[in-house]
Amino acid sequence: MGPRADDGFHRLATTFQAVSLFEDLTVRLDEPGVFRVATFSSGPGFEVADDQTNLAVQAARLLADWAGDDSLGCEITISKAIPVAAGLAGGSADAAGTLLACADLWGLSISDSELSQLAAQLGSDVPFALLGGTAIGRGRGSELNPLLVRGTYHYVLALSWQGLRTPQVYQRFDQLRPSPPEPQVPEAVLTALAQAKIDEVGAALHNDLQEAVLALRPELSLTLQTGMQLGAVGAAITGSGPTAFFLAADADAAAELSSGLAKSGACASVRQVHGPVPGARLIPA
Ligand code: C5P
Repeated sequence: MGPRADDGFHRLATTFQAVSLFEDLTVRLDEPGVFRVATFSSGPGFEVADDQTNLAVQAARLLADWAGDDSLGCEITISKAIPVAAGLAGGSADAAGTLLACADLWGLSISDSELSQLAAQLGSDVPFALLGGTAIGRGRGSELNPLLVRGTYHYVLALSWQGLRTPQVYQRFDQLRPSPPEPQVPEAVLTALAQAKIDEVGAALHNDLQEAVLALRPELSLTLQTGMQLGAVGAAITGSGPTAFFLAADADAAAELSSGLAKSGACASVRQVHGPVPGARLIPA
């Protein structure tokens, strides 16, 4: 993570990988100029505003503005399965899904690169939520270079009891690291990913925001320690937290780790996932 630039955003270099935690989003035509959303939460930590502040509604409006057509409108339905304010880019995934689905619903011809530019206006992680797979992100996180990666990676996500606000985490980062060096993705990560060396990927896992997240939520140190003691090959906080993620040697090891973590009481709940998987995808009705 580099310093905060004049636009208020930090310059970063990160490795993104899309994992198999997803939610279903449906779009239907609505009256001209009407953009609305209904969300279905799967429990505490999954509630998101059903109003115009919802990033999915903003995505639909932005695409309609791009098309310059006043007759467009839509109703979006989202079944939330990705926890909110968890560092898992759930809102970004909704925005990416909405862009893709509305472009299809409205019969727009928009190129991938134009869609990605709109995505970047909605949030730094939205272009990656469209792309999926594994990619290096630079700039704010929206300048992407896809990476060819061998193998499948099995992870356990340890969800926390309460979300964290991203700007708060970045503010704490600024206090802890007033002049960070120019950000770079370590060569060791790229080599380990290219060669599918799980142990080396595990050893190289690192998140510059982790120190700030742990300063705000000291109890997460115990979550990270517990997963490592239960046999994870690597652990880190995801994005701006508070979710901790653990890399496991294989699918069986991930299942064992998942049940160990669930029993430990060191997190609110767990999800076993794998990556890389594609980004937002259309499922025709
Ligand atoms: O781009 P996005 O809306 O996801 O960013 C949320 C917040 O995270 C920003 O308002 C900013 O405070 C912080 N951020 C940042 N640098 C980035 C990405 C996000 O400071 N590269």
